[in-house]
Amino acid sequence: MFNQNEFQQRRRQLLKKMGAGVAIIPTAPELIRNRDSHYPYRFDSYFYYLTGFKEPESVVVLVAGEQAKFILFCRDKDMEREIWDGFRYGADAARETFGFDEAYSINELDAVLLKLLANQPKLYFSLGESAAWDARVTGWMNTLRAQARSGVSVPDDISDVRKLVDEMRLYKSPFEQAIMRQSANIAAAAHNRAIQFAKPNMMEYEIEAEFLHEFYRKGAQAPAYTSIVAGGANACTLHYNANNCVLNDGDLLLIDAGCELDGYASDITRTFPVNGKFSAAQKEVYELVLASQAAAIAQVSTANHWNAPHDAALDVLIQGFIDLKLCKGSKDAVLESGDYRQFYMHRTGHWLGLDVHDAGEYKDTKSKDKPDNWRMLEQGMVLTVEPGCYIRPADNVPKAFWNIGIRIEDDVLVTQNGCEVLTASAVKSVPDIEALMKH
Ligand code: GLY
Ligand code: MN
Ligand code: MN
Repeated sequence: MFNQNEFQQRRRQLLKKMGAGVAIIPTAPELIRNRDSHYPYRFDSYFYYLTGFKEPESVVVLVAGEQAKFILFCRDKDMEREIWDGFRYGADAARETFGFDEAYSINELDAVLLKLLANQPKLYFSLGESAAWDARVTGWMNTLRAQARSGVSVPDDISDVRKLVDEMRLYKSPFEQAIMRQSANIAAAAHNRAIQFAKPNMMEYEIEAEFLHEFYRKGAQAPAYTSIVAGGANACTLHYNANNCVLNDGDLLLIDAGCELDGYASDITRTFPVNGKFSAAQKEVYELVLASQAAAIAQVSTANHWNAPHDAALDVLIQGFIDLKLCKGSKDAVLESGDYRQFYMHRTGHWLGLDVHDAGEYKDTKSKDKPDNWRMLEQGMVLTVEPGCYIRPADNVPKAFWNIGIRIEDDVLVTQNGCEVLTASAVKSVPDIEALMKH
């Protein structure tokens, strides 16, 4: 649901942070997949965050200072193209609908930008993001420099606009939280659906199809990333996504899949037995990962810093690895030596939002009084909590554990009193999984 006020508010907030100068934020280009076929179009997250506008070939410009204004550049209305490709707003309707002060045809970008950039002290732009846009912006600067003798000055200070917007994107407004809750609900329903479909001898891609079915049926526009549907040993390949193997009786199935709803990602991992019943060894490792996740989620509150959930998960996992005879020595020694990395080699989460690995710093560069400078968790931040354990065949590992790969991932919103697990409706306890699979 579009909310003009929400997006205007964000532009005003960015303007305040800029103080002076001009910000230029283009959206993403359309990408050709092969010959005449395009990849499904996805707007740039920064551009979308500030506009709510989904059409390609668009640029938003913010002018700070006394004559502050918000300007949108977009495609012209074009009946011929609209017959083939569908509706386009055109400048006038886009200005009206999306609440801009001015809107122009994208074809006027060079002419208007030259005027807007002249005599400005500062340019905010994502230098280095796109060679084509770098060249275009440099071109405008050089054209203006050539007019120096007629008294024109160019911005001599270029800052990365993303740094300002990253900090805004990190705090999800109630409007964003509502979309993320819905995105999480759709993905959770898809996991619950897949768990009921899985049976020995099915193919991984058949399960992937159940996800796509549920995502689209519930109104999500796309998977948020390529789904990982990894049976047995495939689960020990962290970014496995071939999804083309048979699901064997006695194996676990790890699925990392989430959807994108109105730009916002959900990101859930569940692991369950293909035949509906955990073996003793699988259950031992599963309960360990689940306990480490519970310990991590318990740390998600405004009283803690970013790394507290990771530290808590690691503490539980390392003790478990020692108990299961996967690691030797004391907890401190295993932590110090890093031996646990044979089985747990990734971090426990990341920010989540318009991008799956969302914008925002993890360390607080200003404050020096926290361990390692990790930033404090604050209300409105959304993060994933996703510990795991991946046991490849190795001489130092009891055979019963070989090829067990488990990850459990939920999406968590930091609230005033602790946290809200947005993905809580996706089943994850051993009895709940086994009960659901009986049906
Ligand atoms: N699905 C990507 C991740 O879990 O980080
Ligand atoms: Mn994740
Ligand atoms: Mn994931």
